[in-house]
Amino acid sequence: MKIGILISGRGSNMTAIVEAVQSKQIPSSEVVVVISDKADAGGLQKAKKKNVETLVIEKNGRKRAEHDAEIVGELEKRNVELVCLAGYMRLLSPNFIQAFPNKILNIHPSLLPSFKGLDAQTQAFEYGVKFSGCTVHFVDESLDSGAIVAQKIVDVKDDDTAESLAARILEKEHALYIEAIAKIVGGNFKIEGRRVIFNALT
Ligand code: GRF
Repeated sequence: MKIGILISGRGSNMTAIVEAVQSKQIPSSEVVVVISDKADAGGLQKAKKKNVETLVIEKNGRKRAEHDAEIVGELEKRNVELVCLAGYMRLLSPNFIQAFPNKILNIHPSLLPSFKGLDAQTQAFEYGVKFSGCTVHFVDESLDSGAIVAQKIVDVKDDDTAESLAARILEKEHALYIEAIAKIVGGNFKIEGRRVIFNALT
C-alpha cells in the first residue's frame, strides 16, 4: 500500500507512521511522499532524515480547490492509495475527497464527536471531562466528522494541565494511528453508514 502523508507542523504522528512502516509494524506498505502546506514545518526535516521524499505545496493565495488539485496531482503521480493527515491544518475540498474515496484518514486529539476543531485537548481540559483521548477517522467534507476507525481513552488526572494532558494524548495518538493504519492496510473491513466494521470476512 502506497501511503502519502500531509502535515503542517512538527510531524510527530508522521514520524511514528514512517517508523512503523519502515520497521514493518505496518506491513506491506511504503510512505512514498510527505507533503506540507508550510515551508517551515518541522516535520519536513524529520521525513528527510528517514529518507522519505518531501514536497512543500503552499496555498499562496490560491483557491482551496486549486491548491488541493496540485496536491492530488502529486499524490496520483506516485500512485498513493492511502492518504494520512497528520496535523494537516486545512479542510479538504470535495474534489480531494472524491479523488480518494474512503482512502483518507485523520487523527484528532479528542474522543469524537466531542471537542472538534482546534485545541481539542484544551477544550476537553477546560470542560472538565474525566477522560478524553484520540480518534482516527475517515475524512469527509466536514470538520472532524467522518466515520470512526479507532479510538483510545486517556484519563484526565487531578493534577493535569492542558499541556500535560495533551502530551499523554499525543503518546496514545502515535500508537493509535499505527494500529489504525495497519488495520486499514489489512483491508478486512467494511463501512456501514457511519460504522467501520473490522473482521468483516471472518
Ligand atoms: C496532533 O495532536 C493531531 O492529533 C492533530 O494535530 C497534532 C499534530 O501533531 N491533528 P504532530 O504534527 O503529529 O506532532
